[in-house]
Amino acid sequence: MEGSGGGGGGGGGGGGPTTYCVTGATGYIGSWLVKSLLQNGYRVHATARNPEKAFQLLNQWESKDQLRLFRADLQEDGSFDEAVRGCDGVFHVAASMEFGVPAAESVDCNVQRNIIDPAIRGTLNVLKSCSKTSSVRRVVFTSSISTMTSKDNFGRWIPIVDESCQIPVQRVLETKSSGWVYVLSKLLTEEAAFQFARENGIHLISVITTTVAGPFLTPTVPVSIRVLLSPITGDPNLLPILAAVNSRMGSIALVHIEDICNAHIFLMEHAKAEGRYICCTGSCFMSELVEHLSKEYPCPIIQRVDREEHDSVLSEISSKKIKDLGFAYKYGIQDIIHETIGSVLVMILHEKFFLYSISKNFEILFLSHVAWSSPRGTLRGPKNKVLGKSRFEEVRKRRVGGRGGSFKPMRFGKRRSNADLDCVSRKPHLTRKSDMEIDGTAC
Ligand SMILES: NC(=O)c1ccc[n+]([C@@H]2O[C@H](COP(=O)([O-])OP(=O)(O)OC[C@H]3O[C@@H](n4cnc5c(N)ncnc54)[C@H](OP(=O)(O)O)[C@@H]3O)[C@@H](O)[C@H]2O)c1
Repeated sequence: MEGSGGGGGGGGGGGGPTTYCVTGATGYIGSWLVKSLLQNGYRVHATARNPEKAFQLLNQWESKDQLRLFRADLQEDGSFDEAVRGCDGVFHVAASMEFGVPAAESVDCNVQRNIIDPAIRGTLNVLKSCSKTSSVRRVVFTSSISTMTSKDNFGRWIPIVDESCQIPVQRVLETKSSGWVYVLSKLLTEEAAFQFARENGIHLISVITTTVAGPFLTPTVPVSIRVLLSPITGDPNLLPILAAVNSRMGSIALVHIEDICNAHIFLMEHAKAEGRYICCTGSCFMSELVEHLSKEYPCPIIQRVDREEHDSVLSEISSKKIKDLGFAYKYGIQDIIHETIGSVLVMILHEKFFLYSISKNFEILFLSHVAWSSPRGTLRGPKNKVLGKSRFEEVRKRRVGGRGGSFKPMRFGKRRSNADLDCVSRKPHLTRKSDMEIDGTAC
């Protein structure tokens, strides 16, 4: 493993092309990482617990001849043996995004048994498979900013948050703020992973991932995007999660999906990479995030938030460690928000977002936004047909049951380009299984 990213032609323990395994290939980050690796010429072993879900993504992945798909479940011992065999490195991305456990739940029984233990067991399962093959030289583990805090032991804000600012387990248990089980699970899983890696001679790198957003390949809106857009949707389960992140970190830290995948690959390849790396493009107070969202998507129902308690200084979520190795981010916060909203809008037009329950009001607002913010006649609907305004009206009326007649669409300062919309448009219909080589059991 040499240098800092680049093509996948060279590597490979046996002199062949570099091969990487990606766990959780059907998820938001995993699916994009598979795409990035294939685009860069690597061979990829992608794992999915449900291969049917992976088939739905095949259209999004180029160079399928470089791809092998494996069925593997974190909860099945030895499930990853075959997928990691012969790989140069493993990106362990798969994890359950379990947020919804009430504060009253006791950590000693249900949460420990049903969530924490399986999460740890799942990651150790992957690492055990890695330890059985000599080809794997490095494992890159997708950790989370939820394992960090911007507050010191006295509750004071830390001006620069670096990789040393891990949140103590005891504090998570004492506060039990929204999403605390997820925090605990990521924290304890990462700790167990490093311990196992140390004891078994595995070179493990952890990517402390901030909230990921931007375009997505998955057929439903990823959880992290739903959390980010919760001030718009007013989702009663997800808005408190965003507020809890804000209260723990003092801000919402973001990273673009393309940047986080490039960072994973960069850290897999860089000869000097060691330990944990925060990956953050930038962060903003939650009140500023709401402003960004409402600029991009003016909307009367957007949740306003009070100015934060420490509105004087923003704790910097520092990416210095990875930047010092030579990594550079391509996207800023406004790009991320712009592309995120654009992607969700495109999904609405492709009639998929409705699988996910949102309020009618939200649909009307989003659809109206599309009508006014897109260059006339350039939006493409299902079957790639140009969607003009009359067709749009038709779709909108059908969607909202004719209720939208009196709604006045709002104008936007920023107009989207065709490229913005095209880059995220997609039609994830099933591809023939024979197009793919399928490995693992029970496919
Ligand atoms: N997105 C973010 O903003 C963010 C931020 C910080 C950290 N992270 C971390 O990044 C990782 C991926 O996040 P994501 O946003 O891509 O989440 P995601 O879209 O929910 O993807 C999770 C992936 O894990 C797989 N998975 C879950 N349980 C599994 C099991 N028992 N066996 C095998 N696979 C299993 C899922 O498979 P199915 O498709 O079958 O469910 C899916 O492919 C997670 O570790 C998460 O904690 C994400």
